[in-house]
Amino acid sequence: MLKGKTALVTGASRGIGRAIAIEYAMQGANVAIVYAGNEAAAEETRTACTEYGIKAEIYKCNVADFEEVKATVAAVKQEFGTIDILVNNAGITKDGLLAMMKESDFDSVIDTNLKGAFNMIRNCCPIFIRNRGGKIINISSVSGIMGNAGQVNYSASKAGLIGLTKSVARELAARNITCNAIAPGFIGTDMTQGIATEDNPLVASIPLGRIGKPEEVAKTAAFLAGEGASYITGEVIRVDGGMAM
Ligand code: NAI
Repeated sequence: MLKGKTALVTGASRGIGRAIAIEYAMQGANVAIVYAGNEAAAEETRTACTEYGIKAEIYKCNVADFEEVKATVAAVKQEFGTIDILVNNAGITKDGLLAMMKESDFDSVIDTNLKGAFNMIRNCCPIFIRNRGGKIINISSVSGIMGNAGQVNYSASKAGLIGLTKSVARELAARNITCNAIAPGFIGTDMTQGIATEDNPLVASIPLGRIGKPEEVAKTAAFLAGEGASYITGEVIRVDGGMAM
């Protein structure tokens, strides 16, 4: 249970981030829902969260922008009093073959997926240090473990997140702050719309034989945020039906 904790979840207006926000609310946490642009979707997540009797607010913020992140973290602290759990879930894809990839498509994916997590951790860590505790969860990907043709930008950002996770874990362990990553496999969300279909040949390469659900990633994010994971840091947990083992 996460009763009385405050969690900040990025990219929480839809997909995996939305499922994490709702799971946390279900477990009693207050939730700061950070979204990029779709206010109506963020509001919808907020309503789903508050049904569990907790406090939830929405914050429009581009995680790639350090100053916006700084202001958002300050606003969340002001509203909720503190932050106990940070989930860096916001992410984008700009897939394409290396030989044709535009420089801007490389940069924007790194800026959102990797630097976005740095921006959030950098601005939340003074709060965690003062609290003598904190839980950081970064949403990586099996693409960052295995690599994936057509995703050099994305897999570099997700592998980078794993390195970031381990360094943060080492650096902040003495302050009772844990930092772990989740590497989802093939999960049915807007990001995988059109390809996350059971007849996709990729599904045959998944030992559990099916596409994953956002709620299945959310359960792991709740585990990592809770007391059950008190002695786990610097870990990468695959939630991929066995795909990358
Ligand atoms: P999604 O596209 O449904 O959701 C991503 C969320 O991030 C959206 O709400 C979007 O608005 C937000 N976002 C994007 N750029 C942002 C920015 N600059 N600032 C703030 N928010 C921003 O995708 P999904 O599937 O829910 O993905 C969530 C995370 O899980 C991503 O980091 C993704 O890379 C990762 N992942 C997803 C997998 C899948 O199969 N769906 C597999 C492995 C990892």
